[in-house]
Parts: sequence; structure tokens; C-alpha cells
Amino acid sequence: MEVSNRSSDAFENEGKRAYRARHLEVLRDQAPELWTDEPPGRLRGAWLELMGSTGWRTLELLTDAAVLSPSSFVGADLDHDRIDDYRRRYPDARWLAGDVLDHVESPELDDVSVIHFDGYEAAGSVKFDHVGEQLAVVLRRAVARHGAAALLVNSDLDATRLHGQQPSAALRRHATTLAAVLAGAGIARREVTPEMLLPAGAENVVGDRAFVGLLGAFEVYKGKSTGHRMASCRAILR
Ligand SMILES: C[S@@+](CC[C@H](N)C(=O)[O-])C[C@H]1O[C@@H](n2cnc3c(N)ncnc32)[C@H](O)[C@@H]1O
Repeated sequence: MEVSNRSSDAFENEGKRAYRARHLEVLRDQAPELWTDEPPGRLRGAWLELMGSTGWRTLELLTDAAVLSPSSFVGADLDHDRIDDYRRRYPDARWLAGDVLDHVESPELDDVSVIHFDGYEAAGSVKFDHVGEQLAVVLRRAVARHGAAALLVNSDLDATRLHGQQPSAALRRHATTLAAVLAGAGIARREVTPEMLLPAGAENVVGDRAFVGLLGAFEVYKGKSTGHRMASCRAILR
């Protein structure tokens, strides 16, 4: 797994800002269990974010909207220096340096209800085959405690071409892997199939490089006009 390079991280754009804001819309619409009545409009549990150089924007989005307090935000990154910097900037938040998948039993993650797994892996990458078991630990705990959990996964759809795979085939493989992650969490009230996340054949439209929009549980969006498209999956488990 590569450590990101802060000088080349470029997630500061309109598309990414809109993407972050849509998480809240989706959680409000689709996961009422995760919101408190008193005080109104606060998220139950904690939010886990993969940080990079720009994850602070998610932290500020959530705290500015009074959706949660900094103490309910857990920021993780492979880069220890980056986490040290964040700890200095936001001392009230919780910080984890290293591979978050090695920390699923840490007290910092005990009450996590939303996982924003924003690692920019290539969609369909085999890397994702190995994260399910660990993320399932966090998701199961959240459902037991709050009645629901949210998994937000953001992957690079066009990076797949670098691996000689067409985006449509990569997106289908990604949907199959994510369905296995969700099914493996063992908490969904009904069977989770790849087609529930991505209807059969829906992936074909991403062969058109201009395509952005909604496809089942996926949103395909573009940050910079010159950049890769991202495939974002938002799944609620209960
Ligand atoms: C694209 S950035 C995150 C962007 C940020 N969430 C935002 O909204 O702008 C991805 C970061 O995730 C980190 N990362 C990827 N996999 C990780 C893992 N398993 N554990 C901890 N950090 C990870 C990388 O080090 C990288 O800095």
C-alpha cells in the first residue's frame, strides 16, 4: 500500500467538495437511525476518515454543520508525520497513524458509525479484496450499537486503464467485491448481491469516458475536468 505524497495530492476541487457534501444528504435521507433527535441533527457515533492532505475539509464540513464535535471524528493516515500535523491542528479530534485496518480493535474506533474509506484505490483493485474482514468488525459494532452503519468507499475509476482493465469491467468487479464485504459483515437483513449495488449491465455506460452520474449505489463523478473519474459507493447497513 503506498503512502500518499502530500505535494501531489490534489483533492481540492468543486467535484470533491460536492462529493463530500452529498454524503450528508445521503445519510440524512437513508440512515435516520444515525441521527439524534436531541440535540437535533447530530450524527450518532463517530466518523472515520482516511485523511490525505485534505481530509480536514471533511472534518470542518461536519463540525461547521454541527453534525458532530471534533471528538467524534477519527482521522487516519498511513503517513505518521501527516497525522502528527493534524493532531497539532485539531487536538480535540482522534488520530490514528498507520494502516487503519490494523487498528479496528483500537478504542478510538469503538463507536464509529460512518466509515469514509477514501483511499483512491483503482476500482476493482485486488487491494480491496483484503479490507472487508477488518471493516466488517467496525460495521458490525456500529449496527449493534446504533442500529445502522454507513460505508462510503471512493475509488479511482479511470486508473483501471493503467492496469489494462476497462472501467466497465473494473466497476463490475468492484461491485462484486463490495457486495462480498457487505455480505461478509453478516448483518444485512437481506442478501447483498452485486446487482443490488450495480444493476446488471449498468456498468457499460462508463465505457464512455464522458459519463458521470448515478449508477445503482454508485455515483461516478469527476473532480478536475482533466482528472480521473471516481466511483463512489454509499452503502447503509442495518
Ligand atoms: C485520497 S486521500 C483522502 C482524501 C480525503 N478523505 C478528502 O476528503 O480529501 C487518501 C489517503 O488515505 C490514506 N490511506 C489509504 N489507505 C489507508 C489505510 N488502510 N489506512 C490508513 N490510511 C490509508 C493514504 O495515505 C492517503 O493519504
